[in-house]
Amino acid sequence: MKQKHENMSASQIKLYADIVLFAAFLLANIPQATGIPIHEWISILFIVPILVHILLDWTWTVNVTKRLIKRMPGEVRFNFIWDLLIFIMMVFVLFTGFVISEAALPALGIYFTIDPFWSAMHDLSANLLMVLVGAHLAMHWSWLVSMFKRCVLRRPAPREQPVPQGGG
Ligand code: HEM
Repeated sequence: MKQKHENMSASQIKLYADIVLFAAFLLANIPQATGIPIHEWISILFIVPILVHILLDWTWTVNVTKRLIKRMPGEVRFNFIWDLLIFIMMVFVLFTGFVISEAALPALGIYFTIDPFWSAMHDLSANLLMVLVGAHLAMHWSWLVSMFKRCVLRRPAPREQPVPQGGG
């Protein structure tokens, strides 16, 4: 019972971190609405919920990485590769964002000459990231709906149905 309770709390933290992450991601994707300075600061703060998201699934990540060279179910392998692509793309979007920064870095006394090539790379990678994240959400949709019902709407879980795991 205690174990179930602890699992529930970890899943709850994960759900709330994911909600913050998704809201920040949506805001980061509409610089036309927020303006560039807010876009840049939100995107920098966005690094915190990303780290929480990754660290909360750290055991899953380490286990899957260890088994990567061995046999593993196709779905787990696919999810792992997809998550890795998202991570790489996210680092690239952040990197290109820093290189073309108009507000945040200059406010910290760091200046780059803005190259249109990096602006184009930032726009392109941000759009690709949106596609990757959209598919990631679709793949974990049943976990999200089930946790939302239980944690936010406070509906009891159906009997015999274990709490689905977010990772993978
Ligand atoms: C998760 C991270 C980020 C996402 C999803 C993201 C997404 C976007 C999107 C969708 C645009 C609009 C592109 C367009 O007008 O077609 C944009 C523009 C811009 N972003 Fe980001 N961005 C992120 C991080 C950053 C960071 C960290 C910085 C700087 C510190 C930054 C600086 C800029 C600037 C200066 C523009 C305007 C440049 C332009 O219009 O070409 N971004 N970003």
